[in-house]
Amino acid sequence: MDSRPSLTAEAVCFMRAVDQLSAPADRVIDDPYARHFLTPPWRALLSVPPLAWRTLPELTTYIRARHRYMDDRLRDALDPAHAAALRGPIEQLVILGAGYDMRGVRLAPELSGRPVFEVDYPTTAARKQRILASLAAALVGGSARPDLKYVTLDFQTESVEDVLLAAGFDPRKRTFFTWEGVSMYLSRAAVHATLGALRRLAAPGSALTMDYFRYLDAPTLGASARRFGAGLLAFVAEPVTFPMHPEDVGDFMARDGWRVTDIADSEELQRRYIRDGRVVYPANFVVHAVV
Ligand SMILES: C[S@@+](CC[C@H](N)C(=O)[O-])C[C@H]1O[C@@H](n2cnc3c(N)ncnc32)[C@H](O)[C@@H]1O
Repeated sequence: MDSRPSLTAEAVCFMRAVDQLSAPADRVIDDPYARHFLTPPWRALLSVPPLAWRTLPELTTYIRARHRYMDDRLRDALDPAHAAALRGPIEQLVILGAGYDMRGVRLAPELSGRPVFEVDYPTTAARKQRILASLAAALVGGSARPDLKYVTLDFQTESVEDVLLAAGFDPRKRTFFTWEGVSMYLSRAAVHATLGALRRLAAPGSALTMDYFRYLDAPTLGASARRFGAGLLAFVAEPVTFPMHPEDVGDFMARDGWRVTDIADSEELQRRYIRDGRVVYPANFVVHAVV
């Protein structure tokens, strides 16, 4: 639904801003821009760090780890040493359901002029561009100028292939796609349609990283609370509709031509990225896939 800017985009942006409250050495990501996209209630919460850290703490820790995971996979795909297995460093970046993701700006030095296509609903994209324009002086300049291109669509009803090609996306170039925090809000058919479209756009050597909501099947109170918690997002008109299980994701994505090369569930994200003792929300997981 696109009647107003996405509230979940702002919520996860808040969680990246919370990460920024840590000392630099303790941050999982380093997103100095996140706080600029917050409306006054979120800013007020952020101004009281003990409260900010206690707001959905497991989800906050998952969001920090998920963002870092995707940064790391992208950095690998840009690094000639790592990217040899992918036929060479990627040549363009597509951020699907971009929200207030500032990867295109934060990693501008590594991206060094490669085009970055940000895809989202029109209202969220418009709000982001308005705020970015007001920050422009602080963001751009020098050799690290990001080449951001905005593309709008509804994943439920439109083809990402059509809109990206119309925006100048070059299907002959190796591409890194991120699809972060979006699949769970779509229908199964729309996820398949988008994965199929991305596969058709993906030149050899392209890669994709995304995450899925996982329906916890344990008959415990904790698992019930998390199932209920995800259901509450229906009240902000962004209902969680599509679950996946890590055991099934390889076959699911293979049907659309993607080969899963890595799956990191909450325990794995905890092991790889979290050093401050906080706990990663268990009902999501991330994957990396190649064509
Ligand atoms: C939870 S936010 C994640 C934003 C961003 N990827 C991040 O991690 O900060 C979900 C994003 O997906 C977008 N989105 C959800 N459903 C969509 C749809 N059907 N079509 C286009 N965008 C959609 C929302 O506008 C929002 O920006």
